[in-house]
Amino acid sequence: MRILLTGSSGFVGSHLQQALTDLDHQVTPCSRATGFDFNQLLTAEAWLPHLEGIDVVINCVGIIAENRTQHFEQLHRLAPIALFTACQQCGVNKIIQISALGADENAFTPYQITRKAADDFLRASSVDWTIIQPSLIYGEGSESFKLFRLMAKLPLISVPGKGDYLVQPVHISDVVKVVLESITTDKASQKTIAAVGATAVSYKDWLQVIRNSMGKKPALILPIPFKLLFLMSKAMGTLFPLFSEANLKMLQAGNSASAANITQLLGSAPASVEEGLQL
Ligand SMILES: NC(=O)c1ccc[n+]([C@@H]2O[C@H](COP(=O)([O-])OP(=O)(O)OC[C@H]3O[C@@H](n4cnc5c(N)ncnc54)[C@H](OP(=O)(O)O)[C@@H]3O)[C@@H](O)[C@H]2O)c1
Repeated sequence: MRILLTGSSGFVGSHLQQALTDLDHQVTPCSRATGFDFNQLLTAEAWLPHLEGIDVVINCVGIIAENRTQHFEQLHRLAPIALFTACQQCGVNKIIQISALGADENAFTPYQITRKAADDFLRASSVDWTIIQPSLIYGEGSESFKLFRLMAKLPLISVPGKGDYLVQPVHISDVVKVVLESITTDKASQKTIAAVGATAVSYKDWLQVIRNSMGKKPALILPIPFKLLFLMSKAMGTLFPLFSEANLKMLQAGNSASAANITQLLGSAPASVEEGLQL
């Protein structure tokens, strides 16, 4: 198949590019380095010349924090909608959208709301689609996983709040399998799949499990009150956009979902965090 892969230079995109080329698919990799800046691709007309002969489009572009040139509105909403519109005009057979858990009716941050807008647009598309909504993805090449591993090495781990809110980390190999199944079968046709690990764990336990996988005894946990973090993020938000109030609130709200859909799609349960950390 001829596949246009946006976000190909990122963590998820590079794993997908490798898996797809290993299976002899013809991949057109798109990132700013290959001349595809979403800020410049805000109309269907801008996308059309790139879609000639393309069978499948996979969109892996996303940001977790805004800066001077990168905004949720352009990257999560406008450019993807322009891309999906162009796909409808030129015979693309399938669109896979890598979205995020939380891009649903309870979306409450600009990150989630703009994602939901593009997901909703795609759900009404005449082109076959699959929307994949991952929890935290971990594995080789993930910047956030690198940070978690660094934190987990410390004998005293500070966590926002009590660290008891849930995450459901999914290993990158399971995310890749979901995408491959979505392309090669119609099992995920017109479905939204929560890409999650086998079970949810609290944020503090996630860090302890990583620590355990490094052969270390459990660390002491130092809770930092959310109220204090919100104040600090207000004061320093522009310096550390990743630790914005919105991102802290998304963490606090938790990030988990039923693993039923992914289990059904893959034919077996996705890796638990203990299993995934051995991969
Ligand atoms: N990783 C996770 O835990 C996780 C969890 C839930 C959802 N997701 C979603 O999954 C998708 C992939 O995540 P990831 O972890 O692979 O992210 P990543 O490593 O940060 O990669 C992001 C990709 O987006 C591209 N990009 C950013 N700005 C762009 C622009 N203006 N024009 C064109 N491309 C641009 C980057 O390319 P260049 O910067 O090289 O141009 C890169 O290829 C994202 O939508 C993310 O929100 C990820």
